[in-house]
Amino acid sequence: MADFVGAVDQGTTSTRFMIFDHAGNEVAKHQLEHAQILPRSGWVEHDPVEIWERTNSVMQNALRHGNLSPEDLAAIGITNQRETTVVWDPRNGRPYYNAIVWQDTRTDSIAAALERSGQGDVIRRKAGLPPATYFSGGKIQWILENVDGVREAAEQGHALFGNTDSWVLWNLTGGPDGGIHATDVTNASRTMLMDLETLDWDDELLGFFGIPRAMLPSINSSSHREAYGVTRTSRPLRAAIPITGVLGDQQAATVGQVCYAPGEAKNTYGTGNFLVLNTGTELVRSQHGLLTTVAYRFGDEPAVYALEGSIAVTGSAVQWLRDQMKIISTAAESETLARTVEDNGGMYFVPAFSGLFAPYWRSDARGAIVGLARYNDNGHLARATLESICYQSRDVVEAMEQDSGVHLDVLKVDGGVTANDLCMQIQADVLGVPVSRPVVAETTALGAAYAAGLAIGFWRDTDELRTHWQESERWQPQWSDEQRAEGYAGWKKAVERTLDWAQV
Ligand code: G3P
Repeated sequence: MADFVGAVDQGTTSTRFMIFDHAGNEVAKHQLEHAQILPRSGWVEHDPVEIWERTNSVMQNALRHGNLSPEDLAAIGITNQRETTVVWDPRNGRPYYNAIVWQDTRTDSIAAALERSGQGDVIRRKAGLPPATYFSGGKIQWILENVDGVREAAEQGHALFGNTDSWVLWNLTGGPDGGIHATDVTNASRTMLMDLETLDWDDELLGFFGIPRAMLPSINSSSHREAYGVTRTSRPLRAAIPITGVLGDQQAATVGQVCYAPGEAKNTYGTGNFLVLNTGTELVRSQHGLLTTVAYRFGDEPAVYALEGSIAVTGSAVQWLRDQMKIISTAAESETLARTVEDNGGMYFVPAFSGLFAPYWRSDARGAIVGLARYNDNGHLARATLESICYQSRDVVEAMEQDSGVHLDVLKVDGGVTANDLCMQIQADVLGVPVSRPVVAETTALGAAYAAGLAIGFWRDTDELRTHWQESERWQPQWSDEQRAEGYAGWKKAVERTLDWAQV
C-alpha cells in the first residue's frame, strides 16, 4: 500500500490539499483562495468553476511540493464547507448559477414561511434543524424559482444539486463522462431534506421545498471503500486513486480531534465557529437552540450523532476589521491592536452579519457595536471583536451543557483563529475552563484523511487514531468569577440590542 493519504478541504474562503503520513503528520500542502462574490447586502456567492480550478491546482501543487506522485496516495478524502449549494448541468458540467454560500440570507422569506405554516416543526423533528437561511433546502428552492429553465431541467434529470463535496467529487471522478453524484450522511444532514433516523432523503421534506428527488446525490457513509469511485485519469492527477472518505468540514474536524466517545467535543475557529459534541449513536434533540446532526458514519457501523452550535461570524469579523473598517492590515494585527488596551472599555461588538445562528436562530438580527464612550478607540474595537468570538462560543457551550448535561472540563480547539494567543486566553477567561490546542491544528483535512484511510485499512481503527493526538498549547482561565459574570451580562445585553433590527 502507498505511504500517504490526501485530503481536499474545500472551505469557505479557500481550497487546500493536504497529504498525511501514517502517524497523521502533515507531509505537504497547498492552499488557494477563491473570490467572495457579494452582489448585494446579505448575498454571498462563489464561482463553482473557480473552486474546481483551485482544486486542480492545489492537488497538483501539494504533490509537487512534497515531491510525490499521485500513486504515493493510498486514498483521498474530501471535506467541505457545508450547506453551500451548487446546481449544475450534468451534460456539460456547467453550473446554472453561482454557488449560494451558507452565510447567504436571501432565503429569509422561505425560512419565515416554513415557520408560519408549521412545517418548521416537521423539519425540526425529522431533520434536527430549525428552518433557517443557513441550510441548503431553501437555497435549492431559490435557484429552482429564480433561475430560468432550472425547474424544467431538474424535472428532466438535467440539473444536479450538490454541496461542494459533491461538486468536487463529481468532477474528480469524471464530470460529464461518468462522474459520481454522491454525498455523505454528514453533508446530507445539513440540507433540511434528510431524515436523521432513516438517513435518507425524505419525500415530505422535499415536498416543502418543491425539490425533485432526481436532483439529489446518493447518500453514503463518511468512510466507505467503494462508494465514491476513483479519480479520473485526466487532470488533475492523471491516475486512478480511490476516493474513500467524504464528510462536512466540522464533522471532519471532530474526527481529526479524535472525539469518538459520547461527551467529547471540539470547537473550530474559522470564518465562523462550530462547536460539535459527540452524542454517540443516540439522537439528542436540542431544547436550547443547537442543531442535531450526524457526526460521522464509518462503513456499515451505525451513524454517530452530534449536537452542534454553529456561529456564523467569528474569524470573518476579524476580516471585516481588515477589509471593511481597514483598522488592521493582517488578521494577526488584531491581536497586537487588542493588546494596546487593558479590557474592552465597556464596548461590545455583536457581529450579526448573517443574523444570529446558534443558539438564537434570528435571521432578523443585525450587527451592533454598543456601550461606546468618547474614550473608546480602535484597540477597544479589536478587543471587542476577539471577545465576540469568545462570548458567542460561551453562548453555545451554555446551550450544550443544558441540552446534554455534559460539563466540559476542557475545550479542544482548532482552526485559524487559534493562532491568536490573546483570543484563546480570552476564551479560557470567558468560559472558566482551560482551552487546549493540538499539535496538528489542521484537524479538518486530517479528519477527512482519517475517514479515507480507515476505509482501506491504512489506519486500523479509531483507537489507533487516538494515539496520534497531542496537545501543543493550553490556556488556563485567569479572570475571577465576578469578572466573568459581569462580562457575560454585558454581552447578553448587547445581543438584545441586535434582535429585530431588520424589522425596525
Ligand atoms: O457550516 C459552514 C461550515 O462548514 C463552514 O466552515 O471553515 O469553511 O468556514 P468554514
